[in-house]
Amino acid sequence: MTSTEGFEGRGVVVTGAASGIGRATAWKFAQGGAKVLVADVDRTGTEAVVGEIEAAGGTALAVVGDLSDQRVVDDVAGRAVEAFGGVDVLVNNAGIMDRMSALGETDDAEWERVIRINLTAPFLLTRAVVPHMLAAGRGSIVFTASEASLRGSTAGAAYTASKHGIVGLVKSLAVMYRGQGIRANAIAPGPTATAIRVDAAEEAHGPAVVGQLSGATMGRFGSAEEQAAAIVFLASDAASFVNGAVLPVDDAWAAV
Ligand SMILES: NC(=O)c1ccc[n+]([C@@H]2O[C@H](COP(=O)([O-])OP(=O)(O)OC[C@H]3O[C@@H](n4cnc5c(N)ncnc54)[C@H](O)[C@@H]3O)[C@@H](O)[C@H]2O)c1
Repeated sequence: MTSTEGFEGRGVVVTGAASGIGRATAWKFAQGGAKVLVADVDRTGTEAVVGEIEAAGGTALAVVGDLSDQRVVDDVAGRAVEAFGGVDVLVNNAGIMDRMSALGETDDAEWERVIRINLTAPFLLTRAVVPHMLAAGRGSIVFTASEASLRGSTAGAAYTASKHGIVGLVKSLAVMYRGQGIRANAIAPGPTATAIRVDAAEEAHGPAVVGQLSGATMGRFGSAEEQAAAIVFLASDAASFVNGAVLPVDDAWAAV
């Protein structure tokens, strides 16, 4: 069985799917016959992905907007249910880097922006989708966590806290909904070639500390497709007994 088997006709929502890991994930599900809702704040990228999937014979739907806005979240959940009859798979993948600021250098704006997009937005969308999964008696939720979910040496305070928070959401979901057909898991990517960018403040000492600690140990860069393959596996029935797991996809960085 290939990892994309079993998704024929299933309704899948992928956030941050205009670029990078989300884009590769939307493609993999579409290739497996799923109907995919592509949600992203980047209109051009979102419409391009949807157009390409449709041109290849797949089914895709675009919702453009900032997922930290409750109205956009409601739109994503509502349109997925309307178009697909439900949400079989939710991939909470959209995210941003912080400025790699140490905690003492993190201002309110950096903290609130990163927590809102990386942690609150997945909470809001999952809360909107869970009732539909419970009604259907099935659903799989996969989060894109990070190496920063596992250690303190990969990003600034805000990003690290947001990605540790994702692990808390995964574990709580897995335990609270065990036995009701819903599974929740995460991948923890190591460095992956995507469009994500660090906008470090010149005076911040975080980048120097992070670079020093991680340079020799992080392994090679992965591709968005390698991350997407792990997401699809966790979402699939092949992972039916995997629940509450955070899977490093990182060329052994987490093992160092
Ligand atoms: N690339 C890496 O090395 C790496 C490592 C660990 C974790 N991650 C995580 O992977 C996930 C995907 O990132 P990527 O590397 O593919 O980067 P990317 O920048 O290529 O893709 C992220 C996508 O999220 C979208 N997005 C950002 N904020 C949004 C918002 N408020 N509402 C809707 N969409 C929004 C962006 O427009 C973009 O299309 C993120 O959660 C990131 O933290 C990436």
